[in-house]
Amino acid sequence: MSLPHHISGPEVLPSSLDLCPRQRAWVEIDRGAITTNTRRVRESLAPRSALMAVVKADGYGHGAVTVAEAAREGGAGSFGVATLAEAIELRQAGINEPVLVLGNLTQPSELRACLHWGLMPTLSSLSQALVASNVGIAGGRELEVHLKLDTGMTRLGVAWDEGPALLDSLAGLDGVRLRGVYSHLADADNPDDTITRQQLQRFTVVLTRLAELELRPGLRHLANSAGTLAGDPTLQFDMVRVGLALYGHAPAPHLRGRLALRPAMSVRARVTMVRSVPAGVGVSYGHSFVTRRPSRLAVVGIGYADGVVRSLSNRLQVLAHGQRLPQVGKITMDQLVIDATDCPALGPGDVVTLLGESAGGSIEAAEWADLADTIPWEILCGFRQRLPRLPVGHEAEVISG
Ligand SMILES: Cc1ncc(COP(=O)(O)O)c(C=O)c1O
Repeated sequence: MSLPHHISGPEVLPSSLDLCPRQRAWVEIDRGAITTNTRRVRESLAPRSALMAVVKADGYGHGAVTVAEAAREGGAGSFGVATLAEAIELRQAGINEPVLVLGNLTQPSELRACLHWGLMPTLSSLSQALVASNVGIAGGRELEVHLKLDTGMTRLGVAWDEGPALLDSLAGLDGVRLRGVYSHLADADNPDDTITRQQLQRFTVVLTRLAELELRPGLRHLANSAGTLAGDPTLQFDMVRVGLALYGHAPAPHLRGRLALRPAMSVRARVTMVRSVPAGVGVSYGHSFVTRRPSRLAVVGIGYADGVVRSLSNRLQVLAHGQRLPQVGKITMDQLVIDATDCPALGPGDVVTLLGESAGGSIEAAEWADLADTIPWEILCGFRQRLPRLPVGHEAEVISG
């Protein structure tokens, strides 16, 4: 059957892959910023403390492999992910450094995959340790593992005071090798460090007990970005596990400026249409915004299905032509509207910046997070795959040749 004559064949129409990735909306990733941030964090650590780059959730939305390579260049010696699939993605991309799966793997098949790919699972219980041991014995080599202690996060991990007994049992099992003992801070971004101190104290009690029992813990690690930026070497042990700071963001206002970090992600989109309307016109679903003056409204091709938080409707601002312009009306699935009345130069095809730097300033994930009553982590992870990730900076120049 031939195509109707009004439909051109693929030799005439570009396929979606041929479309310019900067056509509608996109995310720019400055790999150099990740390398520099990593180096700054690395250099701030106590000399004996190594750096694990946390690249879970597709490198907090930046692209896990891109981030891992950039962080490795900046001095990260290992990687933390949440899921088995995320870990395998790193291996398939040729990343051969130690990879710790921070999430819970519950199936023997998942532990067999860890053995196969040389990944380290986190263990939180004796039953998991027994399965890991069986997997190692059946596979003919030791499965390397980290044991997690719950010192106050009340999520994964064996209760801290049961840690030494579990480690004692683990030491007697064939087929597994303990590479690390760790815990996770629940409140390190709080200027009041009471909970952090309690967790540190519990972690230290366990480590002291292990030493008394002559059990070797492998790498001892506790701190996340906030624990690391706090700058207290007693939190840093043999390694820190850092995510957010490597992407260029401070985990809390009081930790801003501890290190000179540069956000690695920018989000930009194009104006697809500009229209002039009189005063008194309702904009977008529900008419939550009504123009108060004759207005020039610009439609921008990005929406909540791309990761722009809908609850920021009528509160978001964007950068264009060196100005901050207000977003008006409800943010819709694929589009939003900005009030460009005070920016007569703005026209169709122009680029607006939703996050990141542009002439006239910068907008950080923390600004969105504050407005939306959430955290920068969620904002960064929220940008969907519909937005192409494009390298910028020196890296992009090298790639484009
Ligand atoms: C166990 C664990 N360690 C480290 C991190 C890194 O945290 P951050 O992004 O605050 O540095 C996370 C992230 O949530 C985590 O779950």
